[in-house]
Amino acid sequence: MTMLHTTELTNWAVDLIDVHKTYRRKVKALRGVHVQVGRGEVFGLLGPNGAGKSTLVKIMMTVVHPDRALGTVLGRPIGHRGKLGRIGYLPENHRYPGYLRGEQLLDFYGALSKVPRVQRRKNAAYWLERVGMKDWAGTRIREYSKGMMQRLGLAQALMNDPELLVLDEPTDGVDPVGRRDIRLLLTELKGQGKTILLNSHLLSEIELVCDRVAIMKEGLVARQGPLRDLTERVLGYRVRLGGERAANAARIGSMSEKLAAMGARIEDHVVQLASQEIGRVNELIDLLRAGGLLIESVEPRRLSLEEVFVEVLGAGSHVGAARPT
Ligand SMILES: Nc1ncnc2c1ncn2[C@@H]1O[C@H](COP(=O)(O)OP(=O)(O)OP(=O)(O)O)[C@@H](O)[C@H]1O
Ligand SMILES: [Mg+2]
Repeated sequence: MTMLHTTELTNWAVDLIDVHKTYRRKVKALRGVHVQVGRGEVFGLLGPNGAGKSTLVKIMMTVVHPDRALGTVLGRPIGHRGKLGRIGYLPENHRYPGYLRGEQLLDFYGALSKVPRVQRRKNAAYWLERVGMKDWAGTRIREYSKGMMQRLGLAQALMNDPELLVLDEPTDGVDPVGRRDIRLLLTELKGQGKTILLNSHLLSEIELVCDRVAIMKEGLVARQGPLRDLTERVLGYRVRLGGERAANAARIGSMSEKLAAMGARIEDHVVQLASQEIGRVNELIDLLRAGGLLIESVEPRRLSLEEVFVEVLGAGSHVGAARPT
């Protein structure tokens, strides 16, 4: 493997350059992927089923061998195992041995990462508590539900107090309160300076927690950047009315033709304008004010991450990577 990018030159926690992977000489899972994750950043890897997200993560974790890959993970060339002890990894579809108890599993993984025994015990108790599994510590894993397995997997990934946390669909199968807890935990870990790389299909969750995202499509990165930049475009405006409902309805009724001519739609106490032009918004405000209406707020309506995702991938859901030929 080429070692073009040396440790000193990159400030990225993860710097993946031109990553290629073909499975069984047939399935082109990755076709030249570039992904950069800054230190201390929460990064979301998105894309439809089969886009290559898990393959990319497995290459980082040295579980899958790439055909070609440049770049670094925590300053070491990809494929180098030296820093694995500083990474926490929650794989997708993990299957832990059912005969182990939760606390035993954590101890085992802590040992793999060379965490000293006394510290392992402390860490296991701490993380079991944090993921809401304290009462299940002594229960065999085979008795865990799907969401409990996932919580345990997250605790497992944190046992070595990692610099970099790589989570492949961490909230898959977790209930809504659990998902919220996980989100808060991730935010807390970010506050401690940890870097988090996250795969998820739950775009609303990604939107709440990620600084930057990459949208993968058929083995390539189709879009990458700060979440704010991707969702910056204004689609229209929402003008919320104040005052009394019944009186407002009467006033709006008397100006309904003019509103319709402007392309404004009224729903409840909100007037929606599909135009991106600020001049049109002001015309609308003038009209509403002249009609005796009070304005409570004016807000731009921006793209949601889901809308960006659909736009990037094109309409219609299809499985991502190239089929075997
Ligand atoms: N071990 C394997 N052997 C053969 N093909 C594989 C293997 N693992 C993955 N693939 C193929 O590689 C492509 C990318 O799969 P990958 O698991 O990376 O996608 P993904 O983006 O993680 O999808 P999902 O959202 O469903 O988890 C798919 O076409 C998949 O069928
Ligand atoms: Mg996957």
